Amino acid sequence: MAEKKGIVHVIDDEPIIHDVLNQLLSSEGYEVVLSSSGEEALEKHSSQFYAVTLLDLLMPGLDGIEVLRGIKRIDPQAVIIIITAYASVESAISAMKMGAYDYIQKPFKHDELLLIIERALEHKSLQDENIRLRDALDRKFAFENIIGRSQPMQRIFELIEATAPTRSTILIQGESGTGKELVARAIHQNSDRRRFPFVVVNSGALPPDLLESHLFGHVKGAFTGAVSQKNGLFETADRGSIFFDEISTVGFETQAKLLRVMQDKEFMRLGGTKTIRVDARIIAATNTDLEELIERKAFRQDLFYRLNVIKIELPPLRERKDDIPLLVKHFIDIYRRENEKEIEGITDDVLEILEDYHWPGNVRELENLIERAVVLSKSKFITRNTLPPFLLDRRPGDRDIAAEEEKVRSFKEQTQHYQRKVILNALRRAKGVQKQAARSLGLKPTTLNEMIKRLQIDVDSLS
Ligand SMILES: Nc1ncnc2c1ncn2[C@@H]1O[C@H](COP(=O)(O)OP(=O)(O)OP(=O)(O)O)[C@@H](O)[C@H]1O
Ligand SMILES: [Mg+2]
Repeated sequence: MAEKKGIVHVIDDEPIIHDVLNQLLSSEGYEVVLSSSGEEALEKHSSQFYAVTLLDLLMPGLDGIEVLRGIKRIDPQAVIIIITAYASVESAISAMKMGAYDYIQKPFKHDELLLIIERALEHKSLQDENIRLRDALDRKFAFENIIGRSQPMQRIFELIEATAPTRSTILIQGESGTGKELVARAIHQNSDRRRFPFVVVNSGALPPDLLESHLFGHVKGAFTGAVSQKNGLFETADRGSIFFDEISTVGFETQAKLLRVMQDKEFMRLGGTKTIRVDARIIAATNTDLEELIERKAFRQDLFYRLNVIKIELPPLRERKDDIPLLVKHFIDIYRRENEKEIEGITDDVLEILEDYHWPGNVRELENLIERAVVLSKSKFITRNTLPPFLLDRRPGDRDIAAEEEKVRSFKEQTQHYQRKVILNALRRAKGVQKQAARSLGLKPTTLNEMIKRLQIDVDSLS
């Protein structure tokens, strides 16, 4: 017996066709599943995938076109070959418009049928491969948008990868501009919800009752001005993700409703009586300390526990300064394209100024600054005169948050910090050539290499 080639599902009401096809296809190495009616076929499709489905359009009971539609709804990738009784080619063609792969007329030659099935299988494997590639690409792009090779960012990537495919609620905490929304989108893109909506809720921008009608929708006449029924954001996000930007701005009352939706996965529109079920993954972001708000009774503890199943804490930019050169390069690339400017990079002294700054607005502030510099720049490199004056006026040792922090760091941490800076600068001047950098510092190349490893200096980020 030949090896099994896949399952063919035959849907036909005539027993004789069942017998003939069963024998023919089995002898060719296919596994055969038989259905005598559309109802039976749909039921089988909801519990199993088939390589190819042969569907007779003319059956008593459920109309063939209805069966086709039903199968496509359950499994949009199903490969269906239509069998038409006589020359009712017209309905076969309309079936193809609805996504059938091909059709064959009764009576058919066995070879002819086998050929069509083989072609359908090839088509199916190409299609599967395409979907696989497209998914991989989506995932890759979601990650490529997030720049960072520093250790804290590597941990963030691992967290995203591990938690994205799950259903868990995620709380993203981080200062303004650290990339919370970016990470939320990456989580969505890396989950199997990626084909469904990613809905952003900007609760801070809305008064409480308006927020509720946005979230849950309302029926006609629910309140003055509710002239027609409106679906809420939760419904829009069904099967996708709903992102609560700055969750702390959701009012206390609405928090209770939110908690109920999370628990029951259902809700009612404002003024409505019908229960609506939704399957939306909740991702929330905040730049405030929710636990402190809980103490002040401004945030519900029970909601916090529900949200805080997985917490992703985005480090401020000043705590991962190794990422600055990479981010600068990334944003130069984006904005030189957008502004059609031929800019190749940034001068060392400017980069040094950027690395010295404490970035209270984090990556967003850096991004804005690079955009401005690219727009203002008249040469191939971004130079000092494109920086905002306040950055140039700073003197080393100016009191800023970073400097304050250095005071509380240990002697060892501070000297290591300084060593990394000296080595990074030397490496940069030497365009990443370690031997040359070692010479300029009066070190043996092996010593420099050992220090690079010990201080975890990311040499690749220099290129
Ligand atoms: N690691 C990163 N790599 C590349 N771009 C980033 C990164 N982090 C943030 N950005 C960019 O910085 C800007 C701000 O990011 P985002 O809006 O995600 O921050 P946020 O934490 O949501 O800020 P806020 O709290 O102010 O809403 C965006 O343009 C984003 O693309
Ligand atoms: Mg944001």
